[in-house]
Amino acid sequence: MKVAYVQMEPAFLKPEKNYSRAEKLVKEAAEKGAKLAVLPELFDTGYNFENREEVEAVASQIPDGPTTEFLIELAKELDIFIVAGTAEKDEKGRLYNSAVLVGPMGMGYIGKYRKIHLFYREKLFFQPGDLGFHVFNIGIAKVGLMICFDWFFPESARTLALKGAEIIAHPSNLVMPYAPRAMPIRALENRVYTITANRIGEERGLKFIGKSTIASPKAEVLALGSEDQEEIAVVNVDLELAREKRINEMNDILKDRRPKHYLI
Ligand code: ACM
Repeated sequence: MKVAYVQMEPAFLKPEKNYSRAEKLVKEAAEKGAKLAVLPELFDTGYNFENREEVEAVASQIPDGPTTEFLIELAKELDIFIVAGTAEKDEKGRLYNSAVLVGPMGMGYIGKYRKIHLFYREKLFFQPGDLGFHVFNIGIAKVGLMICFDWFFPESARTLALKGAEIIAHPSNLVMPYAPRAMPIRALENRVYTITANRIGEERGLKFIGKSTIASPKAEVLALGSEDQEEIAVVNVDLELAREKRINEMNDILKDRRPKHYLI
């Protein structure tokens, strides 16, 4: 099965423009055979908001809003599953930094995740996620969702692995340099594939690092993006490797855990 990251530079506060950019790049990924494409965090709105009103002006409901509707149409047209980060406004007006999963062949909206570990000024605008970490069985794979800074908390990826994830889709807007080095270790310690789709560019003085990363259960970096180009990468993943949690005949990395000795 082939999977892709889509590394792009969202235009700040311009969802329509970002739909066009995303469409072009996801199409490229689909043409190269990808069945799952992961877009960055807040791909539709940009990131570095000044105040809550700015977020409210571009946030939309999931699934009954323009961003999810755009993604559903794209997934249908290109016969591909898509995970994308988006600014969500719920029916009560609360804001979440969310990710949405949509599928092809009439599947449409499959599910969403609301970012649990908010980074820095995100805490001024967004509510912390209240849906937990969830794994979606999409038939061709079991896909867990987390967003950007969640990587800093190993519990995020671990929870998804314990819930059966074979692939962790990780829309991101990375500004610190560490995640491209850390994600192969998250993949290794959980025996999963990870797809970190990061953005590039600069917003109001905040620079994003690019370097989108696909890592294997053996900590291999299967694809690594540039620091400053919009681009996609499509790689083959062997899900058998992610399902096999034994690393030798006596060790199974999930079954060998000793939770009674751990502080949580
Ligand atoms: C981040 O969580 N966007 C750094």
